Amino acid sequence: MNTNITNLLKEAQQSIDQSKDLNILDQVRVTFLGKKGKITELLKQLGTLPEAKRKSEGQVINQAKEQIQSWLEQRKSQLETQELNKKLREERIDVTLPGRRNVIGSCHPVTQVQDRLVDILSTMGFVLARGPEVEDDYHNFEALNFLPNHPARTMHDTFYFPDGRLLRTHTSTVQIRYMENHTPPIRIIVPGKTYRCDSDATHSPMFHQIECLVVDESVSFANLKHLVALFLRRFFDRDDLETRFRPSYFPFTEPSAEVDAKFMGTDRWLEMGGCGMVHPNVLRFGNIDPEKYTGYAFGFGLDRLAMLYFGVNDLRLFFENDIRFLEQF
Ligand code: PHE
Repeated sequence: MNTNITNLLKEAQQSIDQSKDLNILDQVRVTFLGKKGKITELLKQLGTLPEAKRKSEGQVINQAKEQIQSWLEQRKSQLETQELNKKLREERIDVTLPGRRNVIGSCHPVTQVQDRLVDILSTMGFVLARGPEVEDDYHNFEALNFLPNHPARTMHDTFYFPDGRLLRTHTSTVQIRYMENHTPPIRIIVPGKTYRCDSDATHSPMFHQIECLVVDESVSFANLKHLVALFLRRFFDRDDLETRFRPSYFPFTEPSAEVDAKFMGTDRWLEMGGCGMVHPNVLRFGNIDPEKYTGYAFGFGLDRLAMLYFGVNDLRLFFENDIRFLEQF
């Protein structure tokens, strides 16, 4: 009987050690300790033994039973740890991986520059004004002192509609529209889209201008020069920015000038746009008495300002809507 037990224990120990998972281990448990298990069978046979042997034999079997139970438990906790570790390995989350980002849109660079210009001029007492992009000849030309056969009309390659209306060629149209409903003092800024039949690296058929109009008593060209210089310095954030005024011609201003700016360290003058004292005829078209009031105006290319501000060298990039370009702003 004792050799039997020793062999049984060996057998049990081996099976327990070799159990690869908890299911197999449980089968091993049933084989030895289950209702019909080997140990259970031995215990049942105890009754057939003579009285004298029964007690000692019973102890031996029970010890064996306890031994097997403790091996089973050890192995069980070993296997449980293994399984947990495996699970942890397999289901591991790499918290150092970069998360999925939400792509957030942003304002178009031209819009950003427009907002910046409006901000700067607002702090100087200007109010925002707007007008329609589809205009009539009156507001785009006639009231701005272009005579019907005025040679200046050829400066503008205009997009016309069949009914004679047109896409405004400049934001100066809003000078007239605003004067129609307002009396001096007038201080407005007008950012907006403008259109001309033109297309190359520095011209786009649709482009943006920012217009400024001041009408009040005793407004002078000196005021205009001061405002333009100050506002360009603020816009580019460069106190050393130089400005220069070249004589020019526009039907709606007299005298007229073209404004150039030069950045310290470069020797190139860059054209910003046109300006001048509002022509008395234009004030009259706006129902304003030119004997009492004077005014000045300027109109700058907004896209040109944006190109300089962001260091972009091809105007067309702004309007091709290539997301790789736009994302950089
Ligand atoms: N409207 C002119 C242009 O488009 C610019 C300008 C505006 C000139 C206001 C003088 C005064 O070229």
